[in-house]
Amino acid sequence: MAHLHTTFLAIAALVAPVWASAQSQIVTTPNTELIVNATPGNPLQFVYYGTKLCPADEQTVISAGDAKIERFESQRLMNAYPAFGLEATSDVAVACKHMDGNLTLDLIVNGASKESSSNYTVTRISLKDRVYPFFVDVCYKAYNNVDIIETWTEIRHQEKKAIELTQFASAYMPIRRGEVWYTSFTGSWGNEANMVEEPLLPGTKVVSNRDGVRNSHTAHSEVMFSLDGKPQELTGRVIGAALCYGGNYKLRVETGDTEYHKFFIGMNEDYSHYTLAPNELFVTPSVAFSYSNEGKSGVSRNFHSWGREYKIAHGKQLRKVLLNSWEGVYFDINQAGMDQMMNDIASMGGELFVMDDGWFGDKYPRKDDCSSLGDWVVDKNKLPNGIEGLLADAKKHGIKFGIWFEPEMANTVSELYEAHPDWVIKAPKRDLVLGRGGTQVVLDLSNPKVQDFIFKLIDDFLTKYPETDYIKWDANMSIMNYGSQYLPMDKQSHLYIEYHRGFTKVMERIRAKYPDITIQACASGGGRANYGILPYFDEFWVSDDTDALQRVYMQWGTSMFFPAVAMASHISASPNHNTHRVVSLKYRTDVAMSGRLGMEIQPKNMTDDEKDFCRKAIAQYKEIRPIVQQGDIYRLLSPYDKKGAASLMYVTPDKSNAVFYWWKTETFMNQHLPRVLMAGLDPDKQYKVTELNRIDKEPLPFEGMSFSGKYLMEVGLELPYTHNVDWQLQSSWSSRVLLLQ
Ligand code: GLA
Repeated sequence: MAHLHTTFLAIAALVAPVWASAQSQIVTTPNTELIVNATPGNPLQFVYYGTKLCPADEQTVISAGDAKIERFESQRLMNAYPAFGLEATSDVAVACKHMDGNLTLDLIVNGASKESSSNYTVTRISLKDRVYPFFVDVCYKAYNNVDIIETWTEIRHQEKKAIELTQFASAYMPIRRGEVWYTSFTGSWGNEANMVEEPLLPGTKVVSNRDGVRNSHTAHSEVMFSLDGKPQELTGRVIGAALCYGGNYKLRVETGDTEYHKFFIGMNEDYSHYTLAPNELFVTPSVAFSYSNEGKSGVSRNFHSWGREYKIAHGKQLRKVLLNSWEGVYFDINQAGMDQMMNDIASMGGELFVMDDGWFGDKYPRKDDCSSLGDWVVDKNKLPNGIEGLLADAKKHGIKFGIWFEPEMANTVSELYEAHPDWVIKAPKRDLVLGRGGTQVVLDLSNPKVQDFIFKLIDDFLTKYPETDYIKWDANMSIMNYGSQYLPMDKQSHLYIEYHRGFTKVMERIRAKYPDITIQACASGGGRANYGILPYFDEFWVSDDTDALQRVYMQWGTSMFFPAVAMASHISASPNHNTHRVVSLKYRTDVAMSGRLGMEIQPKNMTDDEKDFCRKAIAQYKEIRPIVQQGDIYRLLSPYDKKGAASLMYVTPDKSNAVFYWWKTETFMNQHLPRVLMAGLDPDKQYKVTELNRIDKEPLPFEGMSFSGKYLMEVGLELPYTHNVDWQLQSSWSSRVLLLQ
């Protein structure tokens, strides 16, 4: 939030604000626009959001929109940022208790301004209460080169004493009823980003999170609304919304007796009432909205381009192929073992080795998950040559080195906890509630001393070992016992918010000093897949579950809002350590290659043939890496539709190259699968087809042949359901990766 505010000030410094006199504010991106009526003295009215209008239609919509509001809808419904008070039966975005106890607000427009930088324009509409010195700025940031509009609010007051903010959504959006379907994501550890699609029926639909630390395990703060019935990937009007926040959130869709689904999105106010001092600025996290009439994939492409360019650390850079030690050796770290893993990944063409958990602890060496978090010193028994030795090994093998930390946490069995028991999150007068390993606790990021400790930990490490290329930043515990030993008793309800402010401050300090290092957000797997943290992180670990079949589903859901460049996807052992499913190496590789490819396996347990297969796959991945990590996604056949297979493709923006993926999701005798039609190609271009990761004895009938984009999109290629391999290599797994050039 502080970051947003700073960004805004930076723009303001570039271009002096122009106070517009026009009553309607039109916020535009290349193909979309949002219109609000900001007539001074009146409530701010939502008028329109959707496809870009021609000037004549724009004027008609503006006047007809107003008429409609007067005729059919109460002002509150179309209020662009409804406040609690004068129509107390309506749902609202903002509510407070004034210093004198009055619970109502009555916000009217006070003025509007636009400020532009080279890539976007921020429209700021200032509202004030008719009676109280209470102010809200509603801000819209519209990008010039991608169809995303970010919106947030900035709240302050000049009452004599503090007031209590009880509701503070970032945004409200009315969505016209019809046959609107809602796409959201549910899940849990090891089963993240399950896509749920349902028609929006009367009643209230809430998607929320109250973890405190991580926010994308059980649900996601990103949703889509398909306006034309059952969601389609390539057609239909879709609105997507993503809350750019790493903490607790609440998304509400209220469907009552009006013509609109009322969508509210923002931080979760539960147990987070905020005491706002006079003149203190409370900035809500931004919500990114996108509209596309090219289906869900259209909205995804918008979010991916915006994410890569503006919201993900180094989002436009290609990622290295890595080996992570976790599933290979777990806590069993030692010098020789790390050297062997580095040698193996280097020999297969990998570019980076990441040493995971288990390398630290002096008084309490980290043997398992019951101790040592917080004691970030090398365990000299395991690694006698220290980090220096590992860096020397990496150099010897010609690869980069990365390392695991879980900086926000401690175990009660640690020197850190012994020295600073007051640094952990705990309710005053209550016993500790313990997490992972029976001893884990969360450090209180609201405490500046804790922020300094975490910054210093990373700063000292990177100062001492500047060759470090990558940090895996983990977070494996929720705020289970609510309460801060740092915050005063009358501000205990600020804990969730202050935790994330503290976290953001630490990350900003780290990024200011170390802008180039790659940082992965891991949080017990996919617990931190959100656009709030990604400005500081290059990627996230999609899930601790590396089972390739389940990954098809999880990566499908994740891809709705996040591009492949940010989705860490690793080849692991078979049987899989979590699901115990036996999956062919070909299939495991074909799935991992649709994201940011890596390995999470003990290579010394692989056969020479398997290593050879991976060596070739890594070489081929390096060829297609720009297409996968920077290309436009077209999802073709959803695993959730249970048609027996799943398929998607990435296409370069100039449509000259593409990679097509097809994975069978179930196998039966005499099965009939749909023929998949491609998408996103240039109908007039010729594409030469090359199969990657081929295991079949004979090439596919169309190997090396060229087809027009029109043919591939309207007729499609016939894919064999099984692989033509020797009897002992047969399995129920079947998948294809095709390169189109
Ligand atoms: C979490 C992560 C894993 C691994 C372990 C280490 O579970 O998600 O990838 O790093 O912690 O303890």
